[in-house]
This record gives sequence, structure tokens and C-alpha cells, in this order.
Amino acid sequence: MKKAHLLWTLLAVCLFVPNLLWAKNYVISTAKTSLVLRTEPGKRVDFVYYGSRIDRVNDIYDTRSAVNWNAYPVFGTNCRAEHALAVTHANGDLSLELETVKVESYKDEKDGGNVTEFQLRDKVFPFYVKLFYKTYEDSDVIKTWTEYSHKEKSDVVLRKFASAYIPMLANDYWLSYLAGQQNSESDLYEEPINRGRKMLGDHDGTRNAFKTHASFMVSQGRPQENSGNVFGGTLAWSGNYDISFVRDYSHGRLEITAGMNPEMSHYYLKPNEVFTTPEFIFTYSTEGKSGVSRQFHRWARNHQIIDGTKTRDILLNSWEGVRFKVNQEGMDKMIRGISELGGELFVMDDGWFGDKYPRNDGTSSLGDWVLCREKLPNGIDALINSCEERGIKFGIWIEPEMVNSKSELYEKHPDWVVRQPDREPTPGRGGSQLLLDMCNPKVQDFVFKVVDDLLQKHPRIHYIKWDANFSANNVGSYYLPKDRQSHFYIEYHRSLQKVLERIRAKYPKVIIQLCASGGGRLNYGLLPYFHENWTSDNTDALQRLQIQWSVSMFYPSNVIAAHVSRSPSKGANNPSSLKFRFDVAMTGRLGLELRPETFSESEKLFAKRAIETYKGIRDIIQLGDIYRILSPFDKENLYSTQLFATPKKDRAVFFAFCPYYRRNQPTPALKMAGLDPNRNYRIRELNPLNPQKPASINGKVVSGRFLMEQGVVLQWEKGDRQSAVLELTAE
Ligand code: DGJ
Repeated sequence: MKKAHLLWTLLAVCLFVPNLLWAKNYVISTAKTSLVLRTEPGKRVDFVYYGSRIDRVNDIYDTRSAVNWNAYPVFGTNCRAEHALAVTHANGDLSLELETVKVESYKDEKDGGNVTEFQLRDKVFPFYVKLFYKTYEDSDVIKTWTEYSHKEKSDVVLRKFASAYIPMLANDYWLSYLAGQQNSESDLYEEPINRGRKMLGDHDGTRNAFKTHASFMVSQGRPQENSGNVFGGTLAWSGNYDISFVRDYSHGRLEITAGMNPEMSHYYLKPNEVFTTPEFIFTYSTEGKSGVSRQFHRWARNHQIIDGTKTRDILLNSWEGVRFKVNQEGMDKMIRGISELGGELFVMDDGWFGDKYPRNDGTSSLGDWVLCREKLPNGIDALINSCEERGIKFGIWIEPEMVNSKSELYEKHPDWVVRQPDREPTPGRGGSQLLLDMCNPKVQDFVFKVVDDLLQKHPRIHYIKWDANFSANNVGSYYLPKDRQSHFYIEYHRSLQKVLERIRAKYPKVIIQLCASGGGRLNYGLLPYFHENWTSDNTDALQRLQIQWSVSMFYPSNVIAAHVSRSPSKGANNPSSLKFRFDVAMTGRLGLELRPETFSESEKLFAKRAIETYKGIRDIIQLGDIYRILSPFDKENLYSTQLFATPKKDRAVFFAFCPYYRRNQPTPALKMAGLDPNRNYRIRELNPLNPQKPASINGKVVSGRFLMEQGVVLQWEKGDRQSAVLELTAE
């Protein structure tokens, strides 16, 4: 062969072979799932497959000829399709068409995830997009997010900027999602996804889990707890969001697009600035909705929640006991009460602060985070001492993003509130609550200082409850430039995260509870800074059974604060026994929300025993695997059941609730799930009303297979709201 010819051949091979290697499927796998994307230089990224793990990629049938499987569709050259991204370029052009430049894979040493990064650019404009997919092997979870940047002559306006686009193909889709409002958070809705567009979304501005949650599951066929193929997704963002489900008209494809809500949030991206979307987290299970939950829980504990693999303390919170009527005597009684019951922590809620304006109700004082000496003359340290003398820890409530117009802070800084300059702001709670403008770095410093001052002065504060009781009602920022007001919704939450990062850098150990008028802020965007979430201000055990059930679809039990309160609880006329209330609360992070000094002797004894019992099983409940069985939302069920098991399946706790008793109702055998069919379990009844007369199954040793296939028949007394808890220990 001639020298020149050889050189040309070599050159061709060098240029051509990498391309050949490039035109390939990227198989992004976890232990049990695979996501397959395909691309080559100069081409878009195609979405090929997501589901159970596939090792032999060649076997994947290429559906691209039938449907348009774009992994990240953009507005511009197929304007009728769903799009994840839409922009206005510096020159006014609206179009985008992305091509792959490079693909990289690497490990994120911080959290152990494996990242595949697709680097794309527009075919015409210097506009760049990066798609990230990070896998968590241990939990079968994938995180995806997107980055944009450009080198155009002036700003590019981002008009839609979704974190993720997931197409899927099945015959029958069912959506399960949570919706509600304060005191009835997290109702579970399940419905078929038919043709058209279904939206989950929120534009409250500060709290995004009231209308709907940014979490959902899509089942193929009617959703089942312990069987069936289910996709689960959740957007890790605390601000306004938009998740759409569009059923394709011709091929039955379902398109899911999830990201920040772009409404009134168009973003002016400067040349070279990088815009990063929130993370969308998804998983897939062939073991039904509970399977998806277990995967989310494992991932959240291992990677997304502070101290996620640790159990939480049993606490008493003062709110329902005394509300704003905080005083020395009342606090002392509660401290004594919870320590005598065997609790581990006391939390003083709202009502402890305000000097010039003491906090006696919701009308004043937010912003003035100084102790109200009138109410607590001995100071916070005396309360901490009193806790420590009794062997428990101390926690305190704050609402640092808010201010009342009747406060010293507002008198000094009226321009720190979220409002429009030419209108009077519409206040919230108490007719005077306003939101501080987190976009303003001075406000960020102030909010940081609220926590910093408290912890500097009282380093023995072990726990903080961080509340947020108002929306962004009068959107307008004195700090943001006039032509950047549309950045408010995004900047607010980015700034909040910045402050939380500063707090966590300095105080990584302090337990912080996430609260927003109950569970209004439950999302995986904020949980990396918090240990747990206040699930709802509704502590009525009957409704809590439902609320905690649906929250458990996405969040593990060590995040679900569940408190026993008085009966009937405020706002609900559903009296229930102390046992029922304890049994319901024990499916989450157990706490109390009442005045123990009002207990009778027998109630004290019961509560003490229950707390002791919980200590012995809380690792199974808070850190174990959940198997929801009979749903409290299902009107067909007379009972509601769930089981928590250790991953080794050597210990488990089974909960059975009978919310409404019906005379002569059939008492079916209640089947368990999640046990080892080949092991025998010794059964012990927990929290029996009369320890001398436990259920007849107490002490029996029964095979796991029997318990799952045949079930247990429990004896129920007459009357509403009964429950039984069984501990199972493998022999
Ligand atoms: C709303 C919270 O959800 C309650 O638990 C309580 O902390 C109040 N705020 C206090 O104002």
C-alpha cells in the first residue's frame, strides 16, 4: 500500500471509529433498573428505555420509528410537541435545536452517585445545555437535572426550563398523587390518565405542598401496593413547580415534564451565567407502590436527608398544649411531664418571644427573636437546665422568614418585606404577617443571624422547629431590579437554600424540623437541610392515618413527625382512645402534643409503656422497609394495615387499624407482606390495653408464608377506632 494511502486510511479510521463507537446506547443502570439513552455527535439525545434492568442492550427493540422519543425536547423545530425548554435568544429568535457535542461519565465523590453528562449545543446559536443523570446503585433511584448557558451578545430569556422529560409507553396509565390544604394535607388521589393534559402544580411562592405535592407515581394498570409496575417521581424544589402528564394522541405515549413553574418567572440569563434546574428524582419498581416507596426511602435516608440513617428522639411539643400562652410554670410542667413518660426532648413552640411587642397571638412580634421576659423571667438557659436535669433535651420554634407589621423589625426595615412599592401589601395570619424578601442579601444575613444568635447564646439548644405560615402574596422585591422582578420566585428559594447551607455549614448537628402551617413545605428540595417534617396541624388520629399513609409513599418514617394529641383533637369530632392515638403516631416519628399533667394515672401508665415499647421498635419503623397493605383511603376496606420490616426480614411490626366498627362485620384474615416466607416468627402484641389479657395470637410462632398467604384474624372489641400492633421476631 502506498504511504499516502495508508495515511489517509489511518486518518479515516481515527475520525470514523470514535463516531461509530459514539453512536451508541448509553445504559445507565442501578442494581434493578436501567435507563437507556442513545446519541451520537451532531444528533439529539434519544430516550430509548426506562424500566427493569437490561444488560443485553442489543435486545432493545428500537421504537423510535414509531414514536418521537426525544430525551429533552425543546421548542423550535417541532413546536406541536411537548417541550422541556423554550427560550428567546438575544436576537429575538424563539427556536432551539440541540445536538450532542460530548458525553462524559464520572463518579460524584460527595454522595457516591455515578453521573452521565450529555453536553449539547444549539445547531445555530451559541446556547449550551447539559443533561445530567446520576444513579444511586443502593436504592435504584436516578436523579436528573439540566444546566443552561450561552455566549450570545446579550441576555437570553428562559421561558420554560423543565428539569426532566420522561416519555413512557403502556396501554393503561394510572396516576397517584397527593393534594390537600392545611389540616387535610396529602389526600391520596388515584385516577386513570386519559387523553389530554393533567397538571400538578403550585404557585404559592413559599410553600409548595398544599395544593398538590411535587411527587407522584404512575402505575401500569390500576395501582396496587405490592404488585405491578410503577414509576415514581419527585421534584426536589421548594418553590413553584409544574408537572404535566400528556397522553399522546396517536401512540398512547405518556409524556411527563417536570420542573419549576415558569409562570411569572421568565429568567434573563446573562452571557456565561449558568442556570441549573432543580433535580427530578425517579425510580421504578415491579413490586407496586410500596416497592417504589421503599426505594425512595432508602435513597432519601442514605443520600438526601440529614442523618437519614439515624432514628429520631421522642418529643413533646408545646403548641397544642398551651398555644401562645407560654409561661414558666406551663413549660416546667410539660418538661416534667414528658420526662416522666420517658420522652427525650421538649420543644417550646410559638409564643416565647417579643420584647416591645410580646407574642400573645398571631398579630405581632415575628421578626423580634428576643425572649419575652414577662413570660419567661428565668430565660432560655433555665429551661434548658430544667430539661437537662430531667435527662431530656430542649428545642425551640422560630419562623425566621416572616415579620409582623407590628414588630420592631418592621419598624426598622419596612423595605425588607415582599411587596410592590405602589400598593399596600395584603397581610396574612393575624392580619399583619408579611414575608421577608429573601432575595435581599441583608435579609439573608438576618435570617442566618436569627439561628446563629440563638445557637451562639444557647449552644445547648438541640432542636429547632422552622415554621413558615404565609405565601408570597404581594410578589415584588425592593431588592431586585425593576426589570428582573420575574426572578423573584426562583431567587427566593435559591436564597433560602443559600441561608440554609450557611446554617448547616456551621451547625450540622442541630436537629431542625421543617414546618409550614403543618406539612405545607414537604419536598426533597428542602429536606437536605432538615431532619424531619411536621406532617400536619391536624393531629386527629383518624385523619392522620390517611395523611401519614400517603406521605409514606415518598418519605421515610423518620421524617414523618406524628404526635399524639388530646381527644377529640381540635377541629375534629372523632374521639379516639389513647391506644388508637399512640398506635397511629407510632407508624411515624412518635411525639406528643398535649399536657401530660392532664392524664389520669392509667393514661400515664399506658403512655409510659407505649413510649418504652416504641423505643424498642423505632429502628424498624424509622429505618426499615415499609409494606402498605390495606389502604385507609379505600372505602371497600374495613381495616387498614401496614408492616415495617428490617431489610433482613428478621424483625417486623404489623399495624392493623379498624377506623369504623360495624356490628357483625366480617373479620377477615389480615394478610401481611414483606416477611420471609421460609422463616417462622414469634408474635408479641404491643400496646395491649390490658397487658394481662393480650390478643390470643400473642406468643404464637407462625410461619412467614402463613402470615402472608393466610393472614391473622384479630378479635375486635365493639366500637370505632380500634387498633392492634404486633411485633414479629424471626426464630
Ligand atoms: C403552624 C404550625 O404548623 C404549628 O404546629 C405551630 O407551630 C404554629 N404554626 C405556631 O404558630
